[in-house]
Amino acid sequence: MEIKISPSMLASDYANLEAELKKCENAGAELIHLDVMDGHFVPNISIGAPVIKAMKSVCSVPFDVHLMISNPLDYIQDFADAGADIITFHIESSSDAGKTIDKIIECGCKAAVAVKPGTDIETVFPFADRLSMVLVMTVEPGFGGQSFMADMMPKIEKMRTAYPNLDIQVDGGVNAETIKLCAKAGANVFVAGSAVFKSENPAETILLLKKNAGSI
Ligand code: DX5
Ligand code: ZN
Repeated sequence: MEIKISPSMLASDYANLEAELKKCENAGAELIHLDVMDGHFVPNISIGAPVIKAMKSVCSVPFDVHLMISNPLDYIQDFADAGADIITFHIESSSDAGKTIDKIIECGCKAAVAVKPGTDIETVFPFADRLSMVLVMTVEPGFGGQSFMADMMPKIEKMRTAYPNLDIQVDGGVNAETIKLCAKAGANVFVAGSAVFKSENPAETILLLKKNAGSI
């Protein structure tokens, strides 16, 4: 499986988004992870479609949009129009999962489903054939900078065994050490927020993450 690093802009400097995006682009990040929070599905509020649209205009790396919102189906068109390439929504959200996947695909994006730490991975199995990625959360969604939950690794292993060719993304507390556990369990797409943007040199950290995930 191709290894992909997806820096989470949640930990970046929101006053300098263009420069932060360029750092990721120059370091060879394969994706850019955008966390959308509605203050309802999760306690925080982050950014929405207009900000993502503006970011898209200055970045050529594909956008991986992680919707932590209660009614994703109502907003798929907006995020597709804003330039999302992959749209991930939570299986625990209120929207019908099948209809939401249909809408994402109809809008020309790749569909992905996320599971919170307390949700069984089997809940995504019925939809897997229409998904391009599954996101296994290794923190409770809603905040950056939390500790990695190593006890989520069996979920990744189970998903990888059942679906050898599907992208499996991991999000939450991923750093140069914990990424090794995720890769070993079978994940191949890695979100990293604090590890990248709170480091001395984000570009070097992205390269180190790639190396420790086994791609260089
Ligand atoms: C958390 C978000 C993450 C977050 C990860 O709810 O989904 O994408 O930015 O941040 P770190 O890598 O700092 O745990
Ligand atoms: Zn995320």
